[in-house]
Amino acid sequence: YEALQPDLIAAREEMLKDVTLLGTDQIPSGKQPLDAGFQNLPQQLLDEYESQKSESLLGKIQAKAQELREQSDRFLVLGIGGSYMGMRALFEALAHPWHNELTREQRQGVPRLYFEGNNVDNDSVTALKDLLQSGCQDPHDLLQRWSLTVISKSGGTLETAVGFRLFREALEAYYGADSDESRSLVVPITGLEGKLRNFSNEKGYSSVFPIPDNVGGRFSVFTAVGLFPAAVMGIDIKQLLQGAADMTQRFVTQPMGDNAVLDYTATCHLFEKEKQNTIRILSTWGKRLEALGLWYDQLLAESLGKQEKGATPLTVVNTRDLHSRGQQHQEGALDKLITNLIVEQPDSTPVSVPLVPESQNQDQLNKLKGKTVPDILSAAIEGTNRAYADVNRPTADLILPCLNEYTLGQTLQMLMLATVLEGRLIDINPYGQPGVEAYKKNMQEVLNR
Ligand code: PA5
Repeated sequence: YEALQPDLIAAREEMLKDVTLLGTDQIPSGKQPLDAGFQNLPQQLLDEYESQKSESLLGKIQAKAQELREQSDRFLVLGIGGSYMGMRALFEALAHPWHNELTREQRQGVPRLYFEGNNVDNDSVTALKDLLQSGCQDPHDLLQRWSLTVISKSGGTLETAVGFRLFREALEAYYGADSDESRSLVVPITGLEGKLRNFSNEKGYSSVFPIPDNVGGRFSVFTAVGLFPAAVMGIDIKQLLQGAADMTQRFVTQPMGDNAVLDYTATCHLFEKEKQNTIRILSTWGKRLEALGLWYDQLLAESLGKQEKGATPLTVVNTRDLHSRGQQHQEGALDKLITNLIVEQPDSTPVSVPLVPESQNQDQLNKLKGKTVPDILSAAIEGTNRAYADVNRPTADLILPCLNEYTLGQTLQMLMLATVLEGRLIDINPYGQPGVEAYKKNMQEVLNR
């Protein structure tokens, strides 16, 4: 662990240099650090908000989000990959677990949320279109009204572009193709140039939010990509950014042992190098963290899965998956590092196991008298870690005191910084995803036949 310190610090220096090179023409060839903009972006956005308030990007995002909340009761997010998974992680971690089932009053005016444009699936797209259109006769009835955001940095991603055409057509059929709503209730989020940018200019949408050139798709959760839909959902985006900014600050200033990014990277790297633990299990203890895990799967796989290198990520949700993958993790190939992601305090009041008369105690749960659901979860975590330790299977713990905007901001930024740091350590450019292009090229050829 100590021996790795000089290499880690050198890799961190390289990352800091990437940021200072942004906007200059001195980028060393082959290094491509242009996507390093995510590192300092949270603090930059907060600073800009402090000085420019309603004129800042955050100010404009909040105002438009408020408008959509007041103008619509259902909100559709179209996007795929980095233009989708971050927002999904935020929504699942922070929203009410049954958000879409609540009444508008219970949701405090926050629209119900739907995701599409993230696959090629006739049944799913048809069902959602039917759902959004059903009962849509009166464009003035708030409970029928819906809005959408389309997110694509390149503007050229087929899944999202097809989804946008389909749902735009449905939305225009409801409000009228030339209505104000058809321009104000559709919010594109895209790069500074490209097909979606051109279309948006032509159409005259009332708001189009930018994705900066220097922030890559899977690193874009703290751009408008994640922030705008999050703001519509009533998530405190300033607290999210504060958590992320503080994590960057800690990463830049603190030594190993007091620096989650350095420590996590060192742990993962050493187990891979010394013990051949090439499978990285993110073991999330709670259903709200599943989408975060899937976001991380993409981040790690797309960033480091290059040149026949890079660990294989896999997210599990426990205790659910102890009953599906647990067997393999306990006794299968010795190729896994299991990192637990644990939230210490649930959001809600701990529920106790109800006691019943002895005559109904066939399930023998009365012996859990006084124990709560969080007590059972803690016992499961301890029991699982011990079971793995007994057979020399390594685990590490990432512990969040609670799950809120601030701790989630910290966690996402930590995992992004750690991924880039590891890339620098193993000499892999973490940005770009050349391997994703092969299928697209073939698919286009097939479609052109
Ligand atoms: O990480 C990435 O860059 C990718 O996952 C992209 O986000 C994804 O392919 C979607 O691209 P776009 O936003 O250009 O539609």
